[in-house]
Amino acid sequence: MLGKSMKNKEQQCKGAGSYAKLLGAQLDLLNFFGHALVFGMGLLIGVTLTFFVNKLSLINFQIQQLSLLSNTLQPTLLSSTAISSNISLFISNNQTKNNGARNVSSLPKKINQTKPSSSMIRVTRIGLREFLRPPMMMHDMTDEELLWRASMVPMINNVPFKHTPKVAFMFLTKGAVLLAPLWERFFKGNEGLYSIYVHSHPSFNGTVPETSVFHGRNIPSQEVRWGENSMIEAERRLLANALVDFSNQRFVLVSESCIPLFNFSTIYWYLMNSNETFVEAYDLPGEVGRGRYKPKMMPLIRVSQWRKGSQWFQIDRDLALQIVSDHQYFPVFNKYCKPNCYSDEHYLPTMVSIEYWKRNSNRTLTWVDWSKGGPHPSRYYRTDVTVQFLNKLRYGTSCVYNGRTTNMCHLFARKFTPHALDRLLRFAPKIMQFN
Ligand SMILES: *[C@@H]1O[C@H](CO)[C@@H](O)[C@H](O)[C@H]1NC(C)=O
Ligand SMILES: *[C@@H]1O[C@H](CO)[C@@H](O)[C@H](O)[C@H]1NC(C)=O
Ligand SMILES: *[C@@H]1O[C@H](CO)[C@@H](O)[C@H](O)[C@H]1NC(C)=O
Ligand SMILES: *[C@@H]1O[C@H](CO)[C@@H](O)[C@H](O)[C@H]1NC(C)=O
Ligand SMILES: *[C@@H]1O[C@H](CO)[C@@H](O)[C@H](O)[C@H]1NC(C)=O
Ligand SMILES: *[C@@H]1O[C@H](CO)[C@@H](O)[C@H](O)[C@H]1NC(C)=O
Ligand SMILES: *[C@@H]1O[C@H](CO)[C@@H](O)[C@H](O)[C@H]1NC(C)=O
Ligand SMILES: *[C@@H]1O[C@H](CO)[C@@H](O)[C@H](O)[C@H]1NC(C)=O
Repeated sequence: MLGKSMKNKEQQCKGAGSYAKLLGAQLDLLNFFGHALVFGMGLLIGVTLTFFVNKLSLINFQIQQLSLLSNTLQPTLLSSTAISSNISLFISNNQTKNNGARNVSSLPKKINQTKPSSSMIRVTRIGLREFLRPPMMMHDMTDEELLWRASMVPMINNVPFKHTPKVAFMFLTKGAVLLAPLWERFFKGNEGLYSIYVHSHPSFNGTVPETSVFHGRNIPSQEVRWGENSMIEAERRLLANALVDFSNQRFVLVSESCIPLFNFSTIYWYLMNSNETFVEAYDLPGEVGRGRYKPKMMPLIRVSQWRKGSQWFQIDRDLALQIVSDHQYFPVFNKYCKPNCYSDEHYLPTMVSIEYWKRNSNRTLTWVDWSKGGPHPSRYYRTDVTVQFLNKLRYGTSCVYNGRTTNMCHLFARKFTPHALDRLLRFAPKIMQFN
């Protein structure tokens, strides 16, 4: 009895099943046409949308249309068009910002619906030249944005365009570049082989004549305090601004009291041909060396790895990239290298000695005299500047360059006061054979 009724039920189910199958097939067919129709519409909408990426209101309108359609259309298709509309929104939103000069209200009010306008083509076409052009000096990137942009490295080493390697001279100053007239003479006639970046106090409002090589070379800056981490931030900011220009291959940090000791062609040749970086690093027992180490820096930095050195470096692009993208050492210094630690004298020497010592010379190319003691090196005034003195700085020591011993160990020197400028301008061009 029970078995029979079950069998009946089974048959009933079977019958219902085959009926359902038939119905299903018809439904499938219907569904197929429905899908195709819907797909075509989606495609049409997608294409229409991408044509009007610049016009927000238009996109909004289309999205409204989409949401109307969404009541009748299948969700799978909708989401694919929704993605394209979101991408369009994303582009149009941030294109106006990135174009700087362009301004939202100056965009065409009505866009011709039959074909994209020529102005839109100009906006969206990004050739290599546009890509390689460095942003304006006074850009509006935050430090975080700038460091990220600067950290980019091409994976293909062969450069498919002509470029002349440049030396980036990065001036870290309080105000004006005090010895600018000497540097002007130094740079003259070497256009295209160098770039200049100036980081001065943000409140500095001095002006530079338009004819000067320093004109318009100030980068967006922040306040810098001697011996504090803000100094490292400024160095990284300078490096990042310089890295954004792909043709910068060597990076030289100079202060307002630095002078060049050779002519441009000699310095350019020395830097470009060196297979080493010049970050001074030495281990110094005692209070002003290892005494500044903080045990909390363990385990990243052990006291035996702690190094000291001058902040005035000369490095290549590879090391510059490592410095702007360092997310390991700088946070530790930022946290633990507090007063009486002087990160400007320890951060780079220590990090480079741990990670990049293989190609580092452990010396700097900037001459300075600490022999008189105290927290600041000797300063040079008018009467200090003589031919003998300058030649002593140029050839007075011995060192190794590309594996060979040489007596040309310093290309720059500090600290020179503006009082020394007169005599520097009188002697230097002759001794150093400026153009
Ligand atoms: C599109 O953007 C809206 C709002 O910003 C968001 O809710 C939606 O999930 C996005 N759609 C897709 C597919 O990303
Ligand atoms: C687009 O730029 C604005 C600032 O104009 C920013 O707030 C927003 O996050 C950017 N959108 C994306 C997706 O990066
Ligand atoms: C944007 O363009 C409008 C009209 O062309 C102009 O009046 C306005 O000053 C511009 N705004 C900026 C910030 O350039
Ligand atoms: C759109 O472009 C066509 C052909 O270029 C032109 O004849 C028409 O006047 C334009 N319409 C508008 C609204 O600009
Ligand atoms: C420049 O800055 C100084 C103070 O730093 C101020 O006294 C002076 O008025 C400023 N000059 C201009 C032109 O803004
Ligand atoms: C530089 O210092 C590092 C670490 O102190 C050392 O390993 C390296 O041999 C030194 N390089 C030169 C060229 O002296
Ligand atoms: C630099 O070149 C010299 C000479 O070819 C060589 O002796 C030296 O080992 C090289 N240094 C580095 C760090 O490659
Ligand atoms: C630069 O100085 C060197 C000597 O140090 C000299 O041989 C060379 O000719 C000078 N270059 C120019 C362009 O004057």
